[in-house]
Amino acid sequence: MAMKILTLPFKLLILFMEYISGFSKLSKTEKIEWLTENFFQDAKEADQLIRKYWNRDEKLQRLHDEFSENTISNYYLPFGIAPNFKINGKPYVVPMAIEESSVVAAASKAAKFWQIRGGFKAEVLNTLKTGQVHFLYEGEREVIQRFFKDTKEILKKSVEHLTRNMEKRGGGLLDIELKDKTEKLDNYYQLDCSFKTANAMGANFINSCLEHIAETFEKHSWTEPGFKEQPIKIIMSILSNYVPECLVRAEVSAPVENLMKDKKSSVEFAERFVEAIKIAEIEPKRAVTHNKGIMNGIDAVVLATGNDFRAIEACAHAYAARSGQYSSLTSAKIEDGIFSFWIEIPLALGTVGGLTSLHPLVSLALEMLGNPSAEDLMMIAASVGLAQNFGAVGSLVTTGIQEGHMKMHLFNILNQHEATEEEREIIVEYFKKNVVSHTAVLDQLENIRTQKKLTENK
Ligand code: MEV
Repeated sequence: MAMKILTLPFKLLILFMEYISGFSKLSKTEKIEWLTENFFQDAKEADQLIRKYWNRDEKLQRLHDEFSENTISNYYLPFGIAPNFKINGKPYVVPMAIEESSVVAAASKAAKFWQIRGGFKAEVLNTLKTGQVHFLYEGEREVIQRFFKDTKEILKKSVEHLTRNMEKRGGGLLDIELKDKTEKLDNYYQLDCSFKTANAMGANFINSCLEHIAETFEKHSWTEPGFKEQPIKIIMSILSNYVPECLVRAEVSAPVENLMKDKKSSVEFAERFVEAIKIAEIEPKRAVTHNKGIMNGIDAVVLATGNDFRAIEACAHAYAARSGQYSSLTSAKIEDGIFSFWIEIPLALGTVGGLTSLHPLVSLALEMLGNPSAEDLMMIAASVGLAQNFGAVGSLVTTGIQEGHMKMHLFNILNQHEATEEEREIIVEYFKKNVVSHTAVLDQLENIRTQKKLTENK
């Protein structure tokens, strides 16, 4: 420590402070030093761990450091792939970034299951996105309505410099509507703007347009009589992550008797499956877990392809509650001997802009998918969500979830208890024929270790 104070005398003051100002201006090394000295028992050990996760390629490390702020290290997630997805007749290997064991295995298994039964049929129903300028106006409703009518074209024109490029790519600002929300909140109105953003997720594009529209709207009102006394008060301008009209549908179907190895178990499986979906439709306690399982797959694809999983999550759950009661995002039926299972979900995804060309693994993920358009990616992610849900519900209504889950979790337990290579081999072999549980694995480990000690002491 004395060494540090000598080498960094100007840091003397901040080195031993648990609160700090100007932190973002420190170098990465200084940040780590402050952190480890103040918040860890063994500063050296913490420092070493943080650095262990740095990439040796300095250029690559810098790229990652600059994605965010106050970066001290990298946080790895496993990057897995799920092969055998057949979507609209096309083969896909799907990249998935997720830490939870058994998710990728379940997606792969469901993909294979449906690949030999015709695969996933997916379609994009719409790609509309919206954003709002939220403002207050205390004057007469008719006055603001007339003013909006008179300025609407001016507002549209005011963003032409921003929308020109997007229009060339098939997107742009589609419409602006004045929405009267005064029944819900005194004096509250919106300029509700709709957009298409081609292959981009489009958040920056939409927000730039909205801020410009808000400014133009406000400025124009200053020249109108009456607005001096009752001015428009812009509160904020921001896109909405709720995109119920940016919607994709994916479906699988097959004759019931083709689902399992014989007719009786096929019918039993299909009926139980449909009941499980109905439960998720009417029971929010089940629906949340059910949809969480869907999002296991979707989030993993969203992350691997550099998209914003928080936006996708927030929207998916709001959409699941659109009727006023939280419900399942998937549906299933048996009709004329055909089992059908489908998902409809809003997914505002992009394949250009953002991280897509910056993060080398995101570029790799997109290339693996054949450099999809945003619409293609929506169909891929929806299919993976459906596959994931098929895997989870399929297990739940048959063997239960733990059998498969614990098998995949076995390596986590072995790692947690620092099993050696030799111990791993014996235990993996043993659990090929036995049910995995945390206690059973520990018992096996203890047995092996006791046996070893006994033979060593002989
Ligand atoms: C676990 O991550 C996801 C499941 O709970 C989903 C479900 O219950 O449908 C298995």
